[in-house]
Amino acid sequence: MKEEGLITVKGRGNRRGGVTGLEKWSSKWAFILAAVGSAVGIGNIWRFPSVVGQNGGGAYLLPFLLAVFAFAIPLMILELSVGRRIKLDVVSAFGSIKCKFRAFGWLICLVLFLLLSYYLVITGWTLAFAFFSLIGAEMTFSSFVSSYQPVVFFVICALITGSVVSLGVKKGIERITSILVPFSMIILVVMVVYCATLSGFADGLDYLFTPDPSVLGDPGLWSAAFGQAFFSLSVGMGVMLTYGMYLGREVSVPRSCLAITLADVSVALMAGLVIFPLVFTFGLQPAMGAELAFTVLPQAFDLIPLGQALAVAFFLLLFFAALTSAISMLEVNVTTIMKETSMTRERTSLFLTAGTLVVGIFPCLSYTGAGLQLFGGRILDLMDNTVGTLGLPITAIIISLVFSWCIEKRELAAEIPGRWFPVVLFTTRYLAPGILVMVTVISILQFLL
Ligand code: PFF
Repeated sequence: MKEEGLITVKGRGNRRGGVTGLEKWSSKWAFILAAVGSAVGIGNIWRFPSVVGQNGGGAYLLPFLLAVFAFAIPLMILELSVGRRIKLDVVSAFGSIKCKFRAFGWLICLVLFLLLSYYLVITGWTLAFAFFSLIGAEMTFSSFVSSYQPVVFFVICALITGSVVSLGVKKGIERITSILVPFSMIILVVMVVYCATLSGFADGLDYLFTPDPSVLGDPGLWSAAFGQAFFSLSVGMGVMLTYGMYLGREVSVPRSCLAITLADVSVALMAGLVIFPLVFTFGLQPAMGAELAFTVLPQAFDLIPLGQALAVAFFLLLFFAALTSAISMLEVNVTTIMKETSMTRERTSLFLTAGTLVVGIFPCLSYTGAGLQLFGGRILDLMDNTVGTLGLPITAIIISLVFSWCIEKRELAAEIPGRWFPVVLFTTRYLAPGILVMVTVISILQFLL
């Protein structure tokens, strides 16, 4: 077998990759927990339950699970395998295929940087609500976001994220995810058990799972489910490519991908099993988005025995999930800038955290009294509708097409076990890009109309 870090590109022969002296995950489980930490985030615990509920309950689960298992997993396998094989940051990985493709790498970094800058604003909200619940402060979402407190919590979250990444793969990312991910899982399971005792549990189950097949004809629903699946699994953004760089040869990529996916989907479903029983027990309205987590749920927590403890647990869970996802986003850019500029990890983390603070202050201030707006909308919402909703399918199309078509087949086959290989190749060459183009077109139309 060829030396690691060399990759054969179609028509161009061997290309050198392979950052030498690269850090490695200390074990398979350390890697899986870090990847689960990236995947499980605001997308699972807050966004998924509200989107399912609003989109026909159980009927939404069909396109979502199809997107996850038939499309997102093959792309995750490709991304991780290429990362492990090529051992390069996102920009150099594209550059090793063709010099001009470095632009794709930079585009991915830019999308991630912008995503991170507003993701950390929401992470700040979760930390703030965990803190308010802990000290028993009465704080409504509207009075919180219209004050300047979100800025303080945003800065704290950005600094924590930057500090963890500056410590490196083993001492930083691995250490924090190996504590926070299992701890969050325990919190979630305890919460599900508690919520199963509530009188609204059956109604919650109905709302979450009863299928309304009439919605399946709506292309918007399919587009939303596919977008959610890729976002939720952190696939198609270079995170898995980067985490794959630190992966040893002894780890089975497909099996790890299955484990990561099962953890991600279970968390999303369990979050629904916490949220809806609470909402229905107290006759509240299962609203969308920020309203659900930060306005409706605190009303339920106020009325319930052990409500304060439950509120602290819920917002801490949301905070830990968001933090470990934010860390993975920053890691992609830190690895890239480190490699491209030869700066140290510490300096690069500092520099990028400062950049995130400068850019993120705009979405952060868009909900405060300053009410920063762009094109008649709040900057945070605008960034989510463009970068979050449109950016991801586009970067996923690029990753899928470039790596599945341009790297020699035998090279990929050396990384992906036999029975998985044809499925992964066919899906990432044809099916995933095709469906993602459709998702992008539908999202653009919805954005414009
Ligand atoms: N998967 C994360 C979530 O569900 O909140 C968000 C995310 C992390 C998206 C990292 C993309 C990414 F590269």
